[in-house]
Amino acid sequence: MRPDELINAAKQALENSYSPYSHFCVGAAILCSDGSVYTGCNIENASYGATICAERAAVCRAVCDGHTDFVAIAIVSGDGGTCTPCGICRQTLYEFAPGLAVICPDDHGGTLEFELDELLPHGFGPKRLEP
Ligand code: THU
Repeated sequence: MRPDELINAAKQALENSYSPYSHFCVGAAILCSDGSVYTGCNIENASYGATICAERAAVCRAVCDGHTDFVAIAIVSGDGGTCTPCGICRQTLYEFAPGLAVICPDDHGGTLEFELDELLPHGFGPKRLEP
């Protein structure tokens, strides 16, 4: 799947964003190694700390369906600007795929691509807990 196709899937997910408090809509689409794609949107809560970001919503759907082998994630925000994952989402993603490709729209109609390692350098992951 091309980066722009994954971005389009994230844009579709954005439509269901539940963000009555921040009004900041986010959509994410995560690509698995078998080609399947899981989407998520941010889901806010009156108890603000219970909010879940779009990236983690997508990961939860994928893992609940038995997918943990991730290749790429696209993230879009309703304002059209670049939205890189927050720290908690970086950690969640790092658990499964430190080399994950993180794809975001840039400000000129193109795409930006990062490697998760680059966004979360020296991250703490499951390897550290191996006996
Ligand atoms: N948000 C995401 O869904 N993903 C991010 O990477 C950044 C932030 C959401 C959480 C909250 O609903 C809103 O954006 C404002 O922080």
